[in-house]
Amino acid sequence: MAVYLNGAFMPVEEAQVSVLDRGFLFGDGVYEVIPVYAGKPMRLQEHLQRLQQSLDATQLAVTEDWEVLVADLIELNGGGDLSVYLQVTRGAETKRDHALPESIFPTIFMMATPFTPVQDLDAVTGIKAVTVEDNRWLRCFIKSICLQPNVLLKQQAREAGAQDAILVRDGTVTEAAAANVFVVKDNVVYTAPKNDLILAGITRDLVLELVRDAGFECREEAPSLPLLESADEIWITSSTREIVPVIELDGKPVANGEIGVVWYHAMQQYKTYKQQLIAGES
Ligand code: PDD
Repeated sequence: MAVYLNGAFMPVEEAQVSVLDRGFLFGDGVYEVIPVYAGKPMRLQEHLQRLQQSLDATQLAVTEDWEVLVADLIELNGGGDLSVYLQVTRGAETKRDHALPESIFPTIFMMATPFTPVQDLDAVTGIKAVTVEDNRWLRCFIKSICLQPNVLLKQQAREAGAQDAILVRDGTVTEAAAANVFVVKDNVVYTAPKNDLILAGITRDLVLELVRDAGFECREEAPSLPLLESADEIWITSSTREIVPVIELDGKPVANGEIGVVWYHAMQQYKTYKQQLIAGES
């Protein structure tokens, strides 16, 4: 696997970072995850815009030509279906100090790992989720590498016998531990609005577009807990998982416990979108 570190591509075994890197010491950094289908990055501009938003919000300044770097990384890793991980940390300092040093150079790292897109919709099985209290900070729009809260919330779900955690803050659904949440009720599709309480997923925006194009009403309103609990369908979305149906919530079936028909429409649209991307049409 070829990775990129601070200006050069190299085998992953050769990539080394200082133990005084503030990413290592403080989780002081941001990241992106970009899905790549048959060598073509999906919604690259949107991912790069969100990266810039995270960089600006954390006072990180970099001048990389991301488009070229992403293209080179994909090529060096043989194209195909990949997940590109891109990380910028504050860099290595000379002594551990919470305050930012006056002069420091960011550490820039990228890797590409194989990824298996959904092909056969009939082979998809839903997942179990549990609701948990969203106890993260109030700047969730930053795609921060400081993911300990998300890690622990996901672990809480795993220990409850579920695959994912749906996060609830003040009685409404924000998102999942590493994905956005959609709720379908009476053919209306709901998802939380873009604000500081969620990481506005690139997949979220795409799914909203596709579902609207398919004729469904969509409301960017945070689903209430009663709406979630009485949902016809629940989905979670992310770049690496696409659209995943949740068929069990807190030990009870979602509606009749089957994957819903609106999910099927959404996923068919998503599949077509991927095919158009591969064919160079989107
Ligand atoms: N996570 N919300 C959170 C908290 C996330 O971590 C993610 C994605 C999303 C969905 O964003 P997108 O649709 O742009 O992938 C929402 C990535 C995949 C990760 O951490 O690996």
